[in-house]
Amino acid sequence: MLVNEKMPQRNIAVLISGSGSNLQAIIDACKTGKLGNTKICLVISNKADAYGLERAKKANIETKVISHKNYSDRQKFDEELHSSLIVAKADVVCLAGFMRLLTADFVNKWQGRMINIHPSLLPAFKGANAIKDAYEYGVKITGCTVHYVVPEMDSGPIICQKAVVIEPNDSQESLAQKIHQQEHIAYIEALQSVLI
Ligand code: GRF
Repeated sequence: MLVNEKMPQRNIAVLISGSGSNLQAIIDACKTGKLGNTKICLVISNKADAYGLERAKKANIETKVISHKNYSDRQKFDEELHSSLIVAKADVVCLAGFMRLLTADFVNKWQGRMINIHPSLLPAFKGANAIKDAYEYGVKITGCTVHYVVPEMDSGPIICQKAVVIEPNDSQESLAQKIHQQEHIAYIEALQSVLI
């Protein structure tokens, strides 16, 4: 889809903790017009050394580090997140490898406007080690899911899923690579259906 001048601009904020390869996919999709009149208004990381921050800076996107270590509890951390998103005028919040649990209060404020990507075919293999867990379980098909965020972790209405076949010669690493490739496609498809 190419930029439609008549579409109002939509601002998305992306929350990361690490490499930011999904963030990169979103940056690229914005640049090539695949997300219509969409701008990444802010990238927030809870870790100062997240490589995704470099990706954002390279694309001239505003970044902010909000270290969870500087907050006495989750509530206070989430309040800072929320006010940063409001200041940035975010319409939609994308969790892309953001490795913090969010309070129900925060999630409720953004419910219906916040999406997450998870490296399994939910509701199978919730949690932080989804790829390892699926590999060790011995499933023959796994994949990734983009879903709306609800207070319960790795739950919420599914927007898009991509399946990945686990071949007999796959290692955990090769499986992870295949899943990440599909994630980058799934996140853009999900955003297209949410934004456009
Ligand atoms: C992805 O596998 C995503 O599903 C999970 O965290 C990882 C983030 O990767 N939630 P990246 O930082 O986008 O490269």
